[in-house]
Amino acid sequence: MSTSSASFSHILNVADARRAAARRLPKGLFAYVDRGSEDETGIRLNREELDAVRLAPKVLVDVSDISTRSTILGHEQTLPLVVAPTAVAGLVWHDGEIALAKAAAKAGIPFCVSTQSITPIERIAASGARLWFQLYVWKNRQRMLGLLDRAWAAGAETLVLTVDTAVTPNREYNLRNGFGIPLKASWRAGLDVALHPGWATGVMLKALITGGVPSYAHYPEAFRSRLGREALSDEVALARDVTWQDIAVLRRYWRGKLVLKGILRIDDARAAVEHGCDAIVVSNHGARNLDCAIGPAKVLSAIAEAVGGRIEILADSGVRRGADIARFLALGANGVMIGRAPLFGLAMGGSQGASRVIELLSSELRITMGFLGTPELSRLPETVC
Ligand SMILES: Cc1cc2nc3c(=O)[nH]c(=O)nc-3n(C[C@H](O)[C@H](O)[C@H](O)COP(=O)(O)O)c2cc1C
Repeated sequence: MSTSSASFSHILNVADARRAAARRLPKGLFAYVDRGSEDETGIRLNREELDAVRLAPKVLVDVSDISTRSTILGHEQTLPLVVAPTAVAGLVWHDGEIALAKAAAKAGIPFCVSTQSITPIERIAASGARLWFQLYVWKNRQRMLGLLDRAWAAGAETLVLTVDTAVTPNREYNLRNGFGIPLKASWRAGLDVALHPGWATGVMLKALITGGVPSYAHYPEAFRSRLGREALSDEVALARDVTWQDIAVLRRYWRGKLVLKGILRIDDARAAVEHGCDAIVVSNHGARNLDCAIGPAKVLSAIAEAVGGRIEILADSGVRRGADIARFLALGANGVMIGRAPLFGLAMGGSQGASRVIELLSSELRITMGFLGTPELSRLPETVC
């Protein structure tokens, strides 16, 4: 365990970090990070479906030298993880995206910057992390291509197009809590902030002093949403008419690796192969979008079998233990994205908190591999029952 995260020695798992995050963040913001959509059956089912993946340990295998090394999109890394794009990490902690990127850099894994980041990619790049950039297609495609130029110039090597957010998700608790992006001033939100002075001074006040009211950093200046402003310009609203034609355009335009995030069907996975994508993320967006969507653990092995190594596969949604990483890899993923887990760590203690969570997941993964008799990640599929 590194000294930097020694101050979090009482945090023993992701659930501990989640509880610490719940204490520190205003209720509305914590709910935005933590919860799902509509009746939130997806959150429960993601957990149940992961739990239902049982792995058969191989005994009498030498596990004195366990390696979590893996290769994702041509890069060898010490852990098979990528920090998933999460909008508004910069509201969870001051310069939260930079803090998350530093934790990713320390762990030797990529950090995926969200289109809806509070911190601009140019500042995040200074963290030294390998950067991926996540794209939501804007109605004005020309402006969107301008954003891609900016991401490329800042050093993003991989473009992750999120394809599972065709419409706005229904999250009623945000309405009840008075929480929304862009932030809106209300008595309820004001009281929530007042009851969480650590966050109010450590995040909101710092933002006000250093850069002004937090806003989406990648939106053109004229269209940025700030506290109290009602809505974003229509030009940079998320397009609802995104089709495979856009993928063809993006494949021609983007010089780096192209990843489609939010695939849950075999036919879509095959279409991603046909369109020259480099990878897909089998994901239901952490059960934040469509509550009745099938979970990645249910479809992963069928998708992996169908694409037969012609495209790399990442998976996410619901990872809370190292064993969950092992489960996704056993089912056929090459790598795993983690969304809420590092965000809980970030809320608890910035970069060091996020590092603590990544270290815990890494240590749990190694323990799982030891018990399973799979000292290398490539052998995990042998343990599927
Ligand atoms: C607060 C929050 C914001 C998110 N914002 C984005 C986003 O901007 N773009 C995107 O593609 N996915 C976004 N996601 C989804 C994550 O990238 C990822 O798919 C999901 O969190 C994985 O599930 P997990 O949180 O259980 O690990 C967000 C998730 C959270 C929790």
